[in-house]
Amino acid sequence: MSHVDDHEGTRRDFLYYATAGAGAVTAGAAAWPLINQMNPSADVKALASIRVDTAGIEPGTQVTVKWLGKPVFIRRRTAAEIEEARAVDLASLPDNDARNDNISAEADAADENRAMDENGEWLVMMGVCTHLGCVPLNDAGDYVGPEAIGGWFCPCHGSHYDTSGRIRKGPAPENLPVPVARFEGSELVLG
Ligand code: FES
Repeated sequence: MSHVDDHEGTRRDFLYYATAGAGAVTAGAAAWPLINQMNPSADVKALASIRVDTAGIEPGTQVTVKWLGKPVFIRRRTAAEIEEARAVDLASLPDNDARNDNISAEADAADENRAMDENGEWLVMMGVCTHLGCVPLNDAGDYVGPEAIGGWFCPCHGSHYDTSGRIRKGPAPENLPVPVARFEGSELVLG
């Protein structure tokens, strides 16, 4: 038997998870609607850098894309989520580092240092809890925004992240990290 498909070959599947919106507080990852999308490129370079069209993401929702084997949250925040994130006293944060690979490692955890754009509408983060690596649930936990959306909760051991993805309570030591990313028009380029 010859082995033609070496798994790096003709195609690569990326999973897109769309949240169910405001009612999703108790929904686990497995309950998220699933959309399969084929990535036409399969060489290593394409895998290291992917493009995501964000045009269809509504305010107050997020999509999760799989990148380099890990989930990345792409959230389009509402004004209330942004306001909540920017009103936080930085001195109250367990981790006061921005954890944003696009800016200086010295930057503090102000929401302005974590969002992708000046207005703060777009928040892009690795969807990997900084405790032991579970995937936190969105629109859940003690730090959801005033509209009961935004924020993340990792049920594994009870870590709560605010509407900026900053750890606020629980065993996770660090804010959810912001990966190298940039917008080109409505396309988000990861990597
Ligand atoms: Fe998230 Fe332990 S892995 S709280």
